[in-house]
Amino acid sequence: MPRIRVLESWLADRIAAGEVVERPASVVKELVENALDAKARRITVELEEGGFKLVRVADDGEGMDPEDARLCLRRFATSKITSPEDLRHVSTLGFRGEALPSIAAVSHIEILTSDGEQATRVRAQGGSEPVAEPAAAPRGTVVTVRHLFYNTPARRRFLRSVAREAALCLDAVERHALARPDVAFRTVRDGREVLVLPAEEPRERAARVLGVDPETLLPLEASAQGLRVWGFVGVPHLALRNRSRQYVFANRRPIYSPVIIRAVEEAARTLIFTGHHPLCIVFLELPAGAMDPNVHPRKLEVRFADDRGVFLLVQRAVQAAYRSRPLLRPVPAAPAPLGEATALPRLEVREPEPGDLREPPRRLPPWRLLGQLLRTYVLADSPQGLLVVDQHAAHERVLYEHLLRSCTHHRAAQLLAVPVRVELTASEAAMLPGIADILREVGLEVEPLKGNTVLVRSLPAMPRRASPEALLRACLQEQVWDGASTGRQALERAASVVACHSAIRAGDALSEEEMRTLLESLAACEDPYTCFHGRPTLVMVPPRELEHWFLRR
Ligand SMILES: Nc1ncnc2c1ncn2[C@@H]1O[C@H](COP(=O)(O)OP(=O)(O)OP(=O)(O)O)[C@@H](O)[C@H]1O
Ligand SMILES: [Mg+2]
Repeated sequence: MPRIRVLESWLADRIAAGEVVERPASVVKELVENALDAKARRITVELEEGGFKLVRVADDGEGMDPEDARLCLRRFATSKITSPEDLRHVSTLGFRGEALPSIAAVSHIEILTSDGEQATRVRAQGGSEPVAEPAAAPRGTVVTVRHLFYNTPARRRFLRSVAREAALCLDAVERHALARPDVAFRTVRDGREVLVLPAEEPRERAARVLGVDPETLLPLEASAQGLRVWGFVGVPHLALRNRSRQYVFANRRPIYSPVIIRAVEEAARTLIFTGHHPLCIVFLELPAGAMDPNVHPRKLEVRFADDRGVFLLVQRAVQAAYRSRPLLRPVPAAPAPLGEATALPRLEVREPEPGDLREPPRRLPPWRLLGQLLRTYVLADSPQGLLVVDQHAAHERVLYEHLLRSCTHHRAAQLLAVPVRVELTASEAAMLPGIADILREVGLEVEPLKGNTVLVRSLPAMPRRASPEALLRACLQEQVWDGASTGRQALERAASVVACHSAIRAGDALSEEEMRTLLESLAACEDPYTCFHGRPTLVMVPPRELEHWFLRR
């Protein structure tokens, strides 16, 4: 006897609802998304008892005519796509026609909607056949969801406290409010207004939602190959121990994106203490088709066609934001005796002062040299904790900035008493004419002889001399020239290769004097926190972390 049966539709709907409507916050999210898709300018969200008793979302969008109002509770009923092609290019937040029927399957739902001409009221309970009647209402839609999960007590028991669920509902509103600063939001919880947001500029909106000073949000901006990243990253002291203040949007859709978060954290690594996470609001705008939104039942994740490209772009934008003015500068605190716990380093944002141009800014707190560890790291005591400096990365940064400064004054070259002949491969020799000018700027003067033989006449003036052959080869093999063999970017590229080859290495023993000079030069760098490759040059182990190791807290 056959055992497989097709489920009755009410049961199928209730199972499907479990996927879409996980908790009250999912209802809030879906209803707000529908309001935004209907081009609302103002949205009001009301919650009672964490959304279990009532979620109501009212909008002033385009509404539905009576026929659509009757249809909208049917599964797979959507006005947003019609063909598989649309699914790839979807620009609305919804596209499945699943949200309303899923919500209706596990609640008492009422929809009052008007397209400005006719108004309709539709009601249904636990997925029952909807009942529609004519009504009177201004243009827009009000969806009221009562007694959520009344017919799925197991789901209800699974959820946490009313307070926790209310917080998650507010989080859902906040995410959409961040995404759409041009829309006004009002949220009322148990009769009290808790979040009132007029339509405003993105930065004001972000600051208001997050409760921070707009000045502490550094703007992000980068684009490449049809992708654009914008948004804000918080100054380092806004970082938290959890990720609750990291927001990511793809084409204004709030998503969870490990790729993007990893890129932000990589870029922020040297500014933020271990175990903390930078505040960020990252908007990724990409052409429809470069992203698949249909990979998660609650549309929380998306798939990018080019993960790597997204990663690099976000990382670049965040790095640039931290480096941009206003400067991030650790506030020098009074030196504290060893062992005394001090507060976390405070970083303040300030405008550059005229003096900055003459006097290099101090980017490190006051320090006292402790010594070398494993012939690789230089350790120093500072009021903000233990300073651990990677000697190679730090030296690389110092030389790199030094070289860029000296080549603007044409002081980068050191003539060789005896020029050195170098035999290149055919492909290396072919690269040379394209980048010879840039190499000369950083002090590496090369003259072609016969065939693939060249003569190196001068080397960059560096404290430690690299082998002419190795240096030239490294420059020629640098993959990143691709045509960009002139201009600032190419110069930076060349300087980075030279710096890398001339820097002290891990394993080199350093004298006290050398370590001291290294730290002093690092402190005077424009950007002391990373080497050119983006690896950190220094890590601060805060007193709190040390206390944690020894269970003092
Ligand atoms: N607030 C609203 N204003 C106007 N029309 C709405 C509103 N809410 C829903 N609709 C209409 O009802 C349809 C069904 O909504 P529903 O949320 O179930 O599906 P969807 O938004 O198309 O897709 P998804 O399941 O991905 O959210 C929508 O396509 C839209 O036409
Ligand atoms: Mg929807």
